[in-house]
Parts: sequence; structure tokens; C-alpha cells
Amino acid sequence: MRVTVVGSGYVGLVTGACFAELGHYVVVVDNDQSKLSALREGECPIHEQFLPELLRRHHGDRLMFSDDLQKSVRESVAVFIAVGTPSADNGEADLSYIESVAREISGAISDYKVVVEKSTVPVYTSEWIRKIIVRNGANPSSFDIASNPEFLREGSAVTDFLFPDRIVVGVENDRSATILRELYEPLTSGLYSRQPYSVPIPTTAHALPRLILTSTKSAELIKHASNAFLATKISFINAVATVCESVGADVQQVCDGLGTDSRIGPRFLNPGVGYGGSCFPKDLSAFRAVAREHGYEFRLLDEVMRINEDQRRRFLKKVRSALWTLRGKHLGVLGLAFKGGTDDIRESPAILIIRALLQEGCAITAYDPAATERAREVLHSNVTFSANAYEAAADADALLLLTDWEEFESLDLPRLARELKYPIVIDGRNLYDPQRMADQGFTYYSVGRAPTMPDHLASSVPKEYLETR
Ligand code: UGA
Repeated sequence: MRVTVVGSGYVGLVTGACFAELGHYVVVVDNDQSKLSALREGECPIHEQFLPELLRRHHGDRLMFSDDLQKSVRESVAVFIAVGTPSADNGEADLSYIESVAREISGAISDYKVVVEKSTVPVYTSEWIRKIIVRNGANPSSFDIASNPEFLREGSAVTDFLFPDRIVVGVENDRSATILRELYEPLTSGLYSRQPYSVPIPTTAHALPRLILTSTKSAELIKHASNAFLATKISFINAVATVCESVGADVQQVCDGLGTDSRIGPRFLNPGVGYGGSCFPKDLSAFRAVAREHGYEFRLLDEVMRINEDQRRRFLKKVRSALWTLRGKHLGVLGLAFKGGTDDIRESPAILIIRALLQEGCAITAYDPAATERAREVLHSNVTFSANAYEAAADADALLLLTDWEEFESLDLPRLARELKYPIVIDGRNLYDPQRMADQGFTYYSVGRAPTMPDHLASSVPKEYLETR
């Protein structure tokens, strides 16, 4: 099928590349010329597993990049809108990019098209897109609007697209449903996963993903509710971690006991420095705003956001309780991205924590496997960036772990201890076992677990000192 994807951000690019991988002919449209020329030259603008391979495999054949929206729409049967929906000052989603794309699409609708919302948008957006397209001259019976929210995690977006838990398709009639069903047929039939060239199937993949047909409004709500629920799960476990610290319990043991209940599940129960990224913070505010606009005060979401912010403050308190005064202290920081596997630093807890520590007079040397360049743009020369974890630790008063990169889980601990001025590790992602860290000679702080330290230190320290309340 011929498909247009409007917007070459991470959602648009992954969607375009993956539809090409499924055998469709795709044009990704953007008006940013520098982005287009980089893509045409074969560059992959984001750090995303398997995306460079898919771009290489399909570019120039089933995948094209263009700035001509109208031409591309004329030649397509499905048009996916994947442009940004940033937060406005009042927390609502700013839908002006969506509106301007809808206006432009309108002029190119001659024969039947299905216009699909892929960006995360509040409920009722599909109705607005329809109104705008009709207002600008398109025949109301020549197109349908559908909502097909994405559930792509940065870092594993390609795998999430090609091996989804489910595919949600919100439509108002059979005609548009048939087109979307056909588009996803290689996934729902299992045909794609049987191809010898398919990207590796993750162990968590469902045998055959269900395509869930809903109304457009329900699909819009499924997206917001999913992200809000996941964020709630994270804030919930972070709140439990706080209680664990107060009573001397171990949050990882609690997670184990909690997550093995199949009604709860173990995923998204990792305590830490709170959630970040371009989705959860923005989507929670937007969901809160749209609920309010329609007469419901969704106070639970306020609390989820409050706990999330508190989590960073609590981490900073932990740094203070480990080091006493902060002015003039030299800290090594591992992790700048908002989570492992991506170079994205938007709303990254690591960046927010670094900024707060800089304000308190700390000197910081930081390392991230992928996000250094992006972090340099926002932190400027206030932070020294190193080429690896051990350089970041060199001569530091303590080492902070702020992003859950896989490579941080298997550091050479004796080498780390030799590099640090004091063997103190403050882990905001619970990447290490506290007892093992103590055995390796570290004083180790983490989230929701009691701090540990080597025996010779522990015996000389009163118990209250070990508490981080
Ligand atoms: C999230 C959703 O997981 C996707 O399903 C959704 O499509 C996407 O938003 C979106 O709306 O576009 P993403 O923001 O890429 O994906 O990242 P997540 O893996 O969900 O992580 C979000 C944040 O929560 C990160 O800062 C991560 O470190 C944190 N997190 C995640 C935790 O603190 N604990 C956990 O157990 C899981």
C-alpha cells in the first residue's frame, strides 16, 4: 500500500521505516530541509536500535523522504500524522502543528484517503482534524479519520512496532478499518516474524498481536490512559520505595513479591530517580488538562507528578547525606539520557539532578554512551564530559548512577574503586546489589534499600547515620 507519514521525528521515522519493512511504499514528509538532506544522505538522526539498518535497507526503494506533502498525499491511500504535540504553558497539548498539516492535506484529497492520527493527541482531536479538512475544501465523503496510537518506547521503538503487544485502531466505519487492517496484516498474521530478514524477535513478543478496533475517541483515550497508568505504576513503586527506606525494608524484595502477582506484573515497577522523557511528563499534563476541560478533576495524576518530582529531591538529599556539604565537591556522573538505550535527554532526571548539583557548587564529570552531544548543548561548559565511566569516576568524591544503561550494570568494580577519591556510589537506578557493593569496598546508597558499607566502616558508624530519611 502507498503510505504518507508526516513528520520525521522518532515516531514518524520509526513508523515510516517499519511500514517499508512490512512491504508498503512509504514517503516520509518533513519541512525541515536539513533533516531531509541528512536522511537522504543515509544518516540516522536518532539513536534507535535497528533503525539505521531499516533505513539502509529501504531508503530509495520502498522508503522516500520528501518536502512535498500534497504530492505525497495525492499518491497515498493512508496518511499518518506524526508531528509534534508539545506542551503549552497550561499543560494542554499544543495542536497547532496537527492543524496546519490537516489544512495542507485538505487540498490534496481527491480520491479516498484515510487520515490517521499517530501523534499522541487528546480525545476529540480526530473530530477537529475532520472539521479542518472539510473547512478547507475537501469533500467529507472522500476521507475518513482514524486514530492509531503508538506504543513505542525510545530505544526499542523498532522492535515495539514490529512485535507489538497489541495494535489499537480507532475508526468510525468499515472502509477505514479495512485499510488499516491490511496495513498491519503482516504483523497480525505472523507473516513478518517468519521472514528470514525480520529483526530479532524479542523474548517478550506475543505470538500474534491482537488488532483492537475501537471508536476514534476510545483509541485517543487508550493512548493517554496507557501512559498515565505506566507513570502511575512508576510513582507508586517510588512511593513504596520511600516507605521501605523509612522502615528498613528492601524495595527490590517488595517488587519481587508484588510483581509476581500476574494481575500486577513485574514490568514498570523499577524504582529510581523518577520518570522523564518526551512522553510521560507531557502526556500526563495533557490528560489532566483534557479531563478538566470535560469536567473531571483527575487528582490522582497530580499526585503521580508530585511523587515523581519528589523522587529527584529525595535523591539530592541522599547525595547530601552521603557527602555532607556539596560546595566544591567533585562528582562523577554516569548517565545523561532519560533512560538507557537512547540519546534523548528531554525531561531527563539526570539533567535536572546535574543542574541542581551545579547550583549547589559541585564540579561534575559526566559520561553517557550516547547522549553526550545532546547534553553538551544544554549543560554547556559547566560539566566536563568524559569518554568512559572510569574517566568520569577519576578522583571524584562520589559516583552517581543516573541512567539505566546496560553497560553500567557490569562495571569493573575494583577499577572503579581505584579511580574514585572515595569509594562512594549513589545509585539512582538500583543497578547493583547493596551487599556486593559493600563487599567490594564501596559505601553504597540506592533507592528503597538501606545504604551499605564495608564492614570496617559499618561497625564504626551509628545506625542513624545509615538512614537516609
Ligand atoms: C513511553 C511508553 O512506554 C511508550 O509505550 C509510549 O509509546 C511512549 O512513551 C510515547 O508516548 O511515545 P518512553 O518515553 O520512550 O515510552 O520510555 P519508557 O520506557 O516508558 O520510560 C519512561 C521513563 O520512565 C524513563 O525515564 C524511564 O527511566 C522511567 N521508568 C520506566 C522508570 O523509572 N521505572 C520503570 O520501571 C520504567
